[in-house]
Amino acid sequence: MQFTETDKRAKTENKLNPLFENRWSPRSFSGEKVDKKIIKKFLEAASWSASSFNEQPWRFIVGIKGEGMTWDHIFDSVNEWNQQWVKNAPILILACAKKHFSRNQKENRHHFYDTGQAVNAMILQALEDEVYAHQMAGFDPAVCIDKFEIPSEFVPVVVVAMGYKGEPQELKEEYQKAELAERSRKALGEIAFTEVWEKAF
Ligand SMILES: Cc1cc2nc3c(=O)[nH]c(=O)nc-3n(C[C@H](O)[C@H](O)[C@H](O)COP(=O)(O)O)c2cc1C
Repeated sequence: MQFTETDKRAKTENKLNPLFENRWSPRSFSGEKVDKKIIKKFLEAASWSASSFNEQPWRFIVGIKGEGMTWDHIFDSVNEWNQQWVKNAPILILACAKKHFSRNQKENRHHFYDTGQAVNAMILQALEDEVYAHQMAGFDPAVCIDKFEIPSEFVPVVVVAMGYKGEPQELKEEYQKAELAERSRKALGEIAFTEVWEKAF
């Protein structure tokens, strides 16, 4: 099967902003270095996300492959199944969230929510420079807490592998099928309701 970019584009009912149509989560990365200016640009996009009381509970630990030990420490936290494909990603980012509001030390129920929004902003901004991202829950937060001395007030949320896209053929066979598969989503009627639960909007 020949890979073409259009295979992964979202098949949408409505014409969406191209960023939404083009974003997807590759596992094959070319390994080419990403300029620090581009990295700073997408991190800044994250910082401009909305958050409850403008708390900005997100924090990012940025690892660049071959520069210091940050990338290696994040890689060590990632589970074996993810490590197999993550190894070529030139950037690994750990997103963490602050559990309490700085203004009054009360619990911030939306610390994960806000951090997820910031990660999404980062990913969409990166795409403008053709830098793709693949988020992972499959990592051990305890490894990150230990290696980076993360204070107990912060919780590791997600690891994001980022970089330029590689060729699907470079992946181990078990990952190639997903890399080439068409993407799918629930129908709008299954996720958007009106009047009562599950009455499609
Ligand atoms: C919070 C979160 C955790 C994820 N964890 C993993 C993971 O550990 N390993 C993996 O290969 N993909 C992981 N993914 C990627 C999803 O499987 C992927 O986003 C989903 O299948 C939709 O595909 P798309 O992003 O290409 O639209 C994760 C995505 C998110 C948002």
